[in-house]
This record gives sequence, structure tokens and C-alpha cells, in this order.
Amino acid sequence: MEIKIKDTALVVGANGVIGKKLIDFLLEEGTWDVVGLSRKGGKDRDRLKNLAVDLLDRHDVQEKLQDCGSVNHIFYAAYQDRPSWEALVKPNMEMLVNLMNTIEPVALNLQHVSLMQGYKVYGAHLGPFKTPAKEDDAGIMPPEFNWSQQQFLQERQQGKNWSWSAIRPSVVGGTSLGNPMNLVLLIAVYASISKELKLPLRFPGKPGAYHTLMEMTDAGLLAKATVWAASNPAGANQAFNIANGDLFRWRDLWPKIADYFDMPSGTPLYLPLQDVMKDKVSLWESIQRKYDLCQYKYENLSNWAFGDFVFSWNYDFFADSTKARRFGFHDYVDTEQMFFKLFDEFKKQGVIPTYG
Ligand SMILES: NC(=O)c1ccc[n+]([C@@H]2O[C@H](COP(=O)([O-])OP(=O)(O)OC[C@H]3O[C@@H](n4cnc5c(N)ncnc54)[C@H](OP(=O)(O)O)[C@@H]3O)[C@@H](O)[C@H]2O)c1
Repeated sequence: MEIKIKDTALVVGANGVIGKKLIDFLLEEGTWDVVGLSRKGGKDRDRLKNLAVDLLDRHDVQEKLQDCGSVNHIFYAAYQDRPSWEALVKPNMEMLVNLMNTIEPVALNLQHVSLMQGYKVYGAHLGPFKTPAKEDDAGIMPPEFNWSQQQFLQERQQGKNWSWSAIRPSVVGGTSLGNPMNLVLLIAVYASISKELKLPLRFPGKPGAYHTLMEMTDAGLLAKATVWAASNPAGANQAFNIANGDLFRWRDLWPKIADYFDMPSGTPLYLPLQDVMKDKVSLWESIQRKYDLCQYKYENLSNWAFGDFVFSWNYDFFADSTKARRFGFHDYVDTEQMFFKLFDEFKKQGVIPTYG
């Protein structure tokens, strides 16, 4: 009988929308031991050990990663937010460099480093960009942290036994709480507050954003694709766009989301969410009490600036994900169903009201 020796994955950014689901997926696979790395750390479970490490603190990294000799796969999905595109580069590079400088001499059987990126490599955050974006499209004018991180890894990998992959999702939908770059949760909180105020569920985006073509990436699908690329020889030293596989326009999906919450959708009205949702903390706390919800902090549930960013895209926002299919990854997710499944999950977890 062939006995499969377990791999050990280091998931960097373990509490994030992406990292959390990646850990769940690896544990479900049954062939991985997992080390989760974040600043806050977390509860250990069977085959999961959490490390609380600040990747911006070189000494902390050196001290705490010395026991990571069994790690043979790194899944990098840590992220430091900053107020400008240029300011993102320094901390996000520093975290990756500190990690690699420490882990390479320790993890002597390192096989793969998976880097989580996004459509920023295509300039999607700057304005209308070429759609569908392809992995081998010409790069954009720096500074752009995803691209700097990939170049660093590509150079670092030369002559080494390990390979890298770069995974490029669209906006991600997942169940992670506490790191609020989660659009589905943001919409759920916005809907719950609108409903409590007896308002319709108005689309709050910029004029034009309601009509453009969009796509999203389910965190579960992303986890599966990420592990596929990292474990499959065809994925070595390659970048892959990963999206659900369908496109949508908010004008078609939004009324269905309103239906889900049993609300009228009303006429779209541009609302800068970071301004208008700022004073809703006590309202949210009263909703939590009224519906006996878990006491998750308002500021940990929704990053309204992230919502403003996504709802400002009055241009098409999608990439070509056929490369992953050509290389052997064939899974897909229905985006409408993803929203409803995740809303159901937030109700089940006591994050938003169930209303009856
Ligand atoms: N969310 C999306 O819709 C989306 C879409 C496309 C691409 N992406 C990209 O995917 C990557 C991950 O994004 P995400 O949404 O999963 O981010 P996230 O939810 O904000 O999670 C970031 C993770 O990094 C950890 N972290 C932050 N600073 C750290 C530090 N100094 N040391 C150690 N850990 C640190 C955080 O945990 P602690 O706070 O506990 O440290 C958290 O676990 C980013 O590059 C992002 O641009 C995200």
C-alpha cells in the first residue's frame, strides 16, 4: 500500500478572506499539515498550528519561523493596506522579503511558493483597462506592488529547487470576518442597515457602475485553484487568472440581492459609503441586540472604502481565465448562487439578521 507523506503548507495571511478559506480547503484535503501565519494568530486545530508573527518586524519573523523546517509549500496571501497605490509597495514588499529571507534557509525541502495577486497587475484599479485581461498582457507603469512581488520571487527562484505561481482573482467572496475586504459581507451589512431604516436597497455605486460587466471569485474556488497550481507541475512558474467563470452586471444581480433580503431595490443613488456609513455604529449595535446576533464589531465587518472602490468601477472589469482551463483546472461557480450561499452562511453564523 502506498502511503502518501503529508505536505506542510505555510499559509501567510491566515485570517484573511483568502487565507482563511485556503486553510479550510487544505485541511479538508486531508494530506496537509498547515501552519497559519498572521499578526493576530488564531486557535490551533487538528493539523493546524497558528503563528502570530508581524512580517514587518524582521526580528519577530526570524525568531518565530525557526521551527518551520517541515514547510514545503508557501501560500502567500498577506496584505497591508495603505492610502495610495504607491504607498502599498514598501510594506507589501517588506513582508514578502522578510518571509523569504528567513524561511528559505530553514525550509530546506521547499517545493513551491504561491503568490496571491489580483487584477491590479493589469491596471484595473487605475481606470478602464484592456478586457479580457490576459496573463501575458504587457505590464503597467510601476509602482504596483503585485508586480514587484512577482519580480522578486522570479529572481529569487533562479537556480533553486522550488517553483512559484501567481494567482490573480477578481473581487473575492468569502466568509472571513475581521478582515473586512469582503464585498459580499459588506453588501449584507449594507442591506441589513437599509432594511432596518425601512429604505430600499439602493445600489450605492457611481453612475455607470450599475451597467458594466463584472466578475467575481468565490474564495472556495480560489483555494482549490491555488492548491491545484501549486501542486501541479504544469503550474510551475506560471500566472493564472481565476474567476467564477460567469460575468454579470449589477443592474441584473442587484434586484435579486434585494429580493433575497425581501426589499425593493429602488433607483440607484451614488452614496460615498465611507461617509454615510460612518455614523451607523450604534444603529448596528442596536440591530445586533434586537436580533440577538454575535457581537462582531462594526468596523471589523465592513471596509466601506473598499466598497466605494469596487462600486466606482464604471468600466468593464474582467479577465480571461481560459489559461487555467487549458492547463487543467476546470471548476467554476455560479456567481448569483455564491452570493446567496454566503448570505445564508452569514445568517447561520449570527452575523446578520435572519428576519423570521
Ligand atoms: N479581497 C479581495 O476581494 C481581493 C481580490 C483580489 C486580490 N486580492 C489580493 O489578495 C491578497 C490577500 O487579500 P485578502 O483580501 O485576503 O486580505 P485580508 O483579508 O486583508 O487579509 C490579509 C491577511 O494578512 C495578514 N497580515 C497583514 N499584515 C500582516 C503582517 N504585518 N504580518 C503578518 N500578517 C499580516 C492579516 O492578518 P492580521 O491582521 O492578523 O495580521 C490577514 O490574515 C492581497 O494581495 C489582495 O490585494 C484580494
